Amino acid sequence: MAPGTNVQSQNDPAARPRVLIRDATATDVGPILRLVRALAEYERLGHEVTATEAEMREALFGPLPRVHALLAEVAGEPVGLALFYYTLNTFKLRPNIFLEDLFVDPAYRGSGIGIALMRTLARRAVAENCSRVEWRVLNWNRPSIEFYRRIGAESIVDWHTLLLDGAALAALAEGTSHG
Ligand code: ACO
Repeated sequence: MAPGTNVQSQNDPAARPRVLIRDATATDVGPILRLVRALAEYERLGHEVTATEAEMREALFGPLPRVHALLAEVAGEPVGLALFYYTLNTFKLRPNIFLEDLFVDPAYRGSGIGIALMRTLARRAVAENCSRVEWRVLNWNRPSIEFYRRIGAESIVDWHTLLLDGAALAALAEGTSHG
């Protein structure tokens, strides 16, 4: 595990909570699931969360980890989360980091924790020769889009995001659609 990073705010350090950004460990699975659920609720998608603690433990710390977590901690309590995994840029054969979930508890927003999580992720991406950090954000989530723009992120306008799920996925798999 990488050592945690102590974060001081740029503007008024005295007025902001002392934050530790660190890699999650197996004892953090409960708080991680809480933060994932809180993000889903914020995104009005709470009904879609079926993940259990056991599944989260397997995904993060099982023999084949599928996802990684950074936690922001204030006074020993997790209050923010960045959940990410690696994809691959096959043109450059370099990894990308895909940020799946970013969340800061409402009481701690606006004190630099979101930026601290993104900066830690950016440092990891640079250290690991990743070609980019990327993510999706809902179109209506203007405050977060604004937050991302402030750290220098750009919208992707040349690409269309698509998915296959539910009946369409099953139909293609079964050969009953136009496949
Ligand atoms: N609107 C405008 N500016 C904002 C907002 C906002 N909602 N939130 C933060 N900022 C500004 C802050 O004022 C701050 O500027 P300053 O340093 O000049 O004061 C700067 O952006 C940095 O803000 P932080 O305090 O670092 O951000 P915060 O800790 O609040 O975390 C986050 C930002 C993660 C977006 C948080 O607001 C949050 O959890 N929102 C709800 C969940 C969400 O939308 N998550 C992202 C979904 S997309 C995904 O998960 C990949």
